[in-house]
Amino acid sequence: MDNVVKLECHDVIVVITIDSPPVNALSSAVCGGILQCVKAAIADPQVKAIVLTCAGRTFIVGGDITEFDKPPKPAGWDELLASLESSPKPIVAAIHGNALGGGLELALVCHFRVATKDAKLGLPEVKLGFLPGGGGTQRLPRAVGPELAVKMIVGGDPIGAADALANGLIEEIVDSPAAGGEAFARKVLAQKRPLRGLRDDDSKIAAAKADRSIFTNSVAALTKKARGLEAPFAAAEAVGYAIDLPFDEGLKKARERSVKLVPSDQSKAQRYAFFAEREANKVAGVPEGTKGRPVNRVAILGAGTMGGGVAMSFANAGIPVTLIGTGEERLKRGMNIMQRNWEATAARGGIPADAPAKRMALINGVVGIENVGNADLVIEAVFETMAVKKEVFGKLDQFAKPGALLASNTSYLNIDEIANSTKRPQDVLGMHFFSPAHVMKLCEIVRGPRTAPDALMTAVEISSQIAKVPVVVGLCDGFVGNRMYDQGGKQAGKLLFDGALPQQVDAALTKFGMPMGPFVMGDLAGNDIGWLSRKDRGVKSEIADALCEAGRFGQKTGKGWYRYEAGSRTPIPDPEVAMLIDHTLTRLGRKRRAVSEEEIIERVMYPIINEGARILEEGIAARAGDIDVVWLYGFGWPIYRGGPMYYADQIGLDKVLAKMRELQAAVGDEFKPAALLEKLVAEGKKFADFEQPA
Ligand code: NAI
Repeated sequence: MDNVVKLECHDVIVVITIDSPPVNALSSAVCGGILQCVKAAIADPQVKAIVLTCAGRTFIVGGDITEFDKPPKPAGWDELLASLESSPKPIVAAIHGNALGGGLELALVCHFRVATKDAKLGLPEVKLGFLPGGGGTQRLPRAVGPELAVKMIVGGDPIGAADALANGLIEEIVDSPAAGGEAFARKVLAQKRPLRGLRDDDSKIAAAKADRSIFTNSVAALTKKARGLEAPFAAAEAVGYAIDLPFDEGLKKARERSVKLVPSDQSKAQRYAFFAEREANKVAGVPEGTKGRPVNRVAILGAGTMGGGVAMSFANAGIPVTLIGTGEERLKRGMNIMQRNWEATAARGGIPADAPAKRMALINGVVGIENVGNADLVIEAVFETMAVKKEVFGKLDQFAKPGALLASNTSYLNIDEIANSTKRPQDVLGMHFFSPAHVMKLCEIVRGPRTAPDALMTAVEISSQIAKVPVVVGLCDGFVGNRMYDQGGKQAGKLLFDGALPQQVDAALTKFGMPMGPFVMGDLAGNDIGWLSRKDRGVKSEIADALCEAGRFGQKTGKGWYRYEAGSRTPIPDPEVAMLIDHTLTRLGRKRRAVSEEEIIERVMYPIINEGARILEEGIAARAGDIDVVWLYGFGWPIYRGGPMYYADQIGLDKVLAKMRELQAAVGDEFKPAALLEKLVAEGKKFADFEQPA
């Protein structure tokens, strides 16, 4: 017997244990081993029932995704599924940890499933851009009904053991997988339970067969969020086969869809993003084994937009927060916004009805910086000026307990200079969250030259703990995300001088897959912010200035780059803005010309990519993948395009370089190609090949 699968006989019960660390992924050896054991157990007249379970920390978590560019399934997979499903002896899958993808599909061909209470069961393939190919799309709807199956297959979200029990996916919750599975198998024998596989059981889908709207409504709710993605729509169709077609026909068609999606560009990009996110957790230049400091209580300074959102993220993870404001009234306003946000989520069914009160109870709103005393981590989210930051950090030095991590949420400012106003620069770093902070998953962790390794690891660990995606970045103006974004934003503004309209630029970028164009974003954040800052710096931007001079600050004034009906946030293109642009251009002696969608994308995205190349070259980001993760989770870059650096690699860096040179000649030096871009093209390499010098 192959040593990754072991067989033990306990009188009439055979326990088959998969032991293939770290996560019991389905390899050819695992499939072959199970098949051999199952065949032996079926052939042995002494054996009356079979238990399938796993050693280590989890049940089977699916295929080995590092092998997905090779043939799609491990050898023996189909034969294994068929032999389990047709076994004349009862088979019980006994689950602990995660039963995901192929792991759950394997459990679904068993006659019975039991699980420990911490177990999670799911078919997350859609998140990697393809479909479950082992019959999961056909069997899961038969196990739990089409509505939950759609959530799990089209949405890709796993469910816990309690939900699995309530919906018939498992029979029992057990204390230990092997012993619990065996006890359950004995019960099956004693009760002489009939062996009916899911393929022959249409009871849960009968209602949807009669009234298809049960199915289509749940699909519509989920695919609404899947703009541009192929896999969720294919997944929805595959669940539809379960309802509309005989089992074997549905199985065949679902398999065909899956086989087509695995090698698709979208799936490749999604798998790339999956690995990039994991890779980003590896922090360069930190001694092996460095652990973060314990964080039991957090203090947040500033109860404004960001302070509130960050406080919510900690409370969501059950971590108590002291939220420190400048005055009772502002603090109260901040607390009220948080409460309303949670209540709205609860009303939509996103969190339990009692969650808002429980989470509010974790937040202690107070006035006065001297209250930071018992916090292990302090996050500052006050006004964005160096003078204010320095004053605040000077006081933190006085009041924060020794060893507390002192983090700033600054968007642009120099962390090291901020650290100068303390006597503990080793404890100072940036934790830059993105707005809205309770929604966006990115936390850029800005490492100063004096930040201690264990301080850095504390920020990385606590970010993950509050379900954020940490990316460690170096010190520069705007760090990775904003520094790149601003290059694109600048070009979007300049396109108006050539004749593009705001709605045209926004439409091209949202069609590309961005969640929002820069002009809709400007209206949301307030166009007056940039205007005031330009005035401060003595900088002009004639069209944007004219817009603000006309009082068009954005949503808050009902007019901006768009107009808004009272009480609505829907941007409506406004002929007055087109006129305002025309007048400004006439005044400047410029003529409008037609600007194509392709030109918009190139002029906005290529400078973003180029800035990314500079960021890599300067070592501000450790890897191209880190930059992509920043864009995926900070700005909602479409995951099916991997991230800006991956996107550039797919276009071909030679093409990007040629276009940059062309734009440099036509528009100016803001399109000057980064040295690294030139170098990689000369060497025939991609961003993905780039490694920081040791
Ligand atoms: P905000 O103006 O909404 O909130 C700032 C809050 O800080 C106000 O409530 C103010 O009363 C308070 N405050 C000022 N001085 C203080 C002091 N000495 N002690 C305690 N509280 C004080 O500003 P917002 O947008 O929340 O920005 C805060 C920080 O977060 C800034 O550094 C900003 O650059 C950064 N940031 C902002 C993002 C955004 O999209 N708004 C995104 C990422 C970072």
